[in-house]
Amino acid sequence: MELLHLDIRHVLGTISEKEIFSKEKEIAGHLKALHQKTGKGNDFLGWLDLPGKDNKQLISEISALATQWHQEMEVVVVTGIGGSYLGARFVIEALSHHFPALVQGKAPLIIYAGQNISEDYLSDLLEVLEKRSFGVVVISKSGTTTEPAIAFRLLKNSLEKRFGKQAMAGRIIAITDARKGALRQMASEEGYHSFAIPDDIGGRFSVLTPVGLVPIAIAGFDIEALIEGARGMMQQTVPEVALEKNLSALYAATRNVLYRSEKVIEVLVNYEPALHYFSEWWKQLFGESEGKEHRGIFPASVDFTTDLHSMGQYIQEGRRHLFETVLTVKRPRKKLVIPDDRENLDTLNFMSGKRIDEVNKMAELGTLLAHVDGGVPNIRLEIPGLKEEYLGQMVYFFEKACAISGYMLGINPFDQPGVEAYKKNMFALLGKPGYEEEGRKLRDRLSV
Ligand code: PA5
Repeated sequence: MELLHLDIRHVLGTISEKEIFSKEKEIAGHLKALHQKTGKGNDFLGWLDLPGKDNKQLISEISALATQWHQEMEVVVVTGIGGSYLGARFVIEALSHHFPALVQGKAPLIIYAGQNISEDYLSDLLEVLEKRSFGVVVISKSGTTTEPAIAFRLLKNSLEKRFGKQAMAGRIIAITDARKGALRQMASEEGYHSFAIPDDIGGRFSVLTPVGLVPIAIAGFDIEALIEGARGMMQQTVPEVALEKNLSALYAATRNVLYRSEKVIEVLVNYEPALHYFSEWWKQLFGESEGKEHRGIFPASVDFTTDLHSMGQYIQEGRRHLFETVLTVKRPRKKLVIPDDRENLDTLNFMSGKRIDEVNKMAELGTLLAHVDGGVPNIRLEIPGLKEEYLGQMVYFFEKACAISGYMLGINPFDQPGVEAYKKNMFALLGKPGYEEEGRKLRDRLSV
């Protein structure tokens, strides 16, 4: 299988190869701690060897359900937030037609809910579903997260009104903890088809569990190829592979040395709009894993060339605390050539006959050199194509790099204690039982 290609040559004006390779011993220790499960957060390492596990039964259960839903559903609403949403969305968007609502596919149209609490968004959602045959895949490991719980209550209510309680259950798939939580209880009492999320895999590391696999299969994509890709990357990043060839370790070492040279913001760049949601997943993976104890690289993202006309100015000439990681797709799925124009009023004939992708690649390479010259070091990750196997490689590559990076910072990359702060305040302000006193204090502070 063709592998992702990592190019760190363009960081070498800022940091040296010697500094990167001085991390070899430290990284070997972190890899050992990960694989021997002796490091921080070691009860959340189920993702580490997941692609190598026997999954035949799970795959055939998911595939059978996906085939059934292809026939029965016009639209499927994937309902979840954070790690229970972004992995599936990035894979589906990376593999889908750019205008899915306007093409007739064999799979249902996938739309999303539970990732916000917007009254307008949810009202529009219920409105468009009113006359359509739809199903809901609701995903929440805790089974109690407010955003998806509200969206699910509305969707369930709409399904029940239209189809009755029994038929409603056939239109819901719940993906949650095997035993605990409100969603598990509802699934058992109301008879939804359900899948369990392994105890030892946290949300943002769960793409290759039913959390990602069920929506991706329903969207019509090859989940076996996705896992196969991850398996290939898993073999490439084991402790036995030396730093030079160990892609995740090399990326982690490079970004850590950059961080210690005051490059505290990493901007993930793509040149394919289909990768926009990959960046959203990546930001969550690194932001939620590394941003602890007042440490961590701030993960940001841009879509080029679009954002060269907005954020490009800052990256070229603003404060020099950035580095870029560029995702470049080697082979586009389609072929389109710029036509010649006899009158050439737009003066573009110098590009006649060139593929659009060649122009995109020259924009990318020109930008790379301009940004490096402007003091922004550049890591480049080449992806052979937007196909399941390469996306699977990307999932595992970044998960492993994130775990190593977290250990290099000395934090636990597998928890997210900081996320609770807003929830507590929100519950207190909404008057949840048990939060009355805190609610009073917060209302005083806000003068409401
Ligand atoms: O990565 C994580 O753990 C989080 O982003 C969660 O996935 C997110 O908060 C949603 O949680 P849950 O699946 O419990 O609804």
